[in-house]
Amino acid sequence: MPWILIQLIVSPFDQAQYFFDFPHFSACVFKGKLRNLENSGYCLPTLKTMNPFSELPTPCYVVDTQKLRQNLEIIRSVQDRTGARIILALKGFAMFRVFPIIREYLCGTTASSVNEAKLGSYEFGGEVHAYAPAYSEKDIHQLSPLIKHITFNSFSQFHRFKEQVSNINPQVSMGLRINPEYSEVATELYDPCRPCSRLGMTLQHFEGEALDRIEGIHFHTMCEQNSDTLERTLKVVEEKFSPYFEQLKWINFGGGHHITRPDYDVDRLCRALDAFMQKYSLQVYMEPGEAIALNTGILIASVMDVFENDIPLAILDTSATAHMPDVLEMPYRPVIQGAGAPGSKAHTIRLGGLTCLAGDEIGDYAFDQPLKVGDRLVFEDMAHYTMVKNTTFNGVHLPSIATYNPLTQTVEVVREFGYEDYRSRLS
Ligand SMILES: Cc1ncc(COP(=O)(O)O)c(C=O)c1O
Repeated sequence: MPWILIQLIVSPFDQAQYFFDFPHFSACVFKGKLRNLENSGYCLPTLKTMNPFSELPTPCYVVDTQKLRQNLEIIRSVQDRTGARIILALKGFAMFRVFPIIREYLCGTTASSVNEAKLGSYEFGGEVHAYAPAYSEKDIHQLSPLIKHITFNSFSQFHRFKEQVSNINPQVSMGLRINPEYSEVATELYDPCRPCSRLGMTLQHFEGEALDRIEGIHFHTMCEQNSDTLERTLKVVEEKFSPYFEQLKWINFGGGHHITRPDYDVDRLCRALDAFMQKYSLQVYMEPGEAIALNTGILIASVMDVFENDIPLAILDTSATAHMPDVLEMPYRPVIQGAGAPGSKAHTIRLGGLTCLAGDEIGDYAFDQPLKVGDRLVFEDMAHYTMVKNTTFNGVHLPSIATYNPLTQTVEVVREFGYEDYRSRLS
């Protein structure tokens, strides 16, 4: 009975000000063990401020399995409505602990390397697709038994390896990445159609090439974009490449589709997919990474030191460059629960990371109260492109990884990292 009460009144994942304001309350559920609350001695007012994260080690990524399911429901609805097949791009999110959940909704994964293909094959199952800017002979040898589709980046790679792939696994369907020379990606670093791009073949390279044995084409030209961008992209792809469609079996629309973002126009996506599939008898694949895990995870960090150099500064037990590299690469400003833009609240402070990199700064944030050593901060939307990209630069610990199930209020630390993880990457 008290248990039900807690579920109704506590939603720490969504209301991290509890977390922020009351960082030292004990968790009612931790590491998968349910504590008997009737014997816990907590009274109702205390229960209201409890949260299941307060005993977590920091830094720690926490993925909310229900939020993951909500994303996957949206993605499954697109598959059900259109017949398109949507697979998980492991480069964006590869937390294999939650693969059993994702597997309920998606038929497979796409890999950018032999390691990702192994993870997809061994831990996820289903269809494994592969694309990389280049493969070595050894890659092909290891990949071919694991995969259903392989996409080559160039005709030269295709001609070099088509025999080897077929000899090892005749079932593998081979495709080619195209560059339609159309994208709406503003940041050059993320624009696959930038001038002289090394990613994919432009139309002019198709002339004179024999396409026998090529069964599919693949384009990836989007980044965090809506379905209107896909519509415009498809128009260009059709104008340029539809003469080749008749001899193909499939087309892969790549990733960059922000399908699970609240303002994403899912109906428009379904209309675009329907219209395309009515015109061409091609199996359509999409391979988002970010959309699967969008807004499903947080990174919890602690304040380790506070001091001044003209402005207030805090050092956290996390790092922009090591634990959330896209903050520097994109660059972007992560949302911190309970914090605002500089000057918007009484106390503005610059948050920095643990490494020696001078620019290892997360940004300037304003808080209601001055930060102090031991305070915990909750960074939002930290599930995708974090665990897959983080490093142990400076020997900093990697953040632990936890899952959170709000239905049971259960937090489980599924992975912690230590010296051996750092050492094992060196010799
Ligand atoms: C070929 C390819 N497919 C899929 C993806 C996944 O993109 P996103 O995570 O933005 O959906 C990427 C990301 O770079 C990619 O390069």
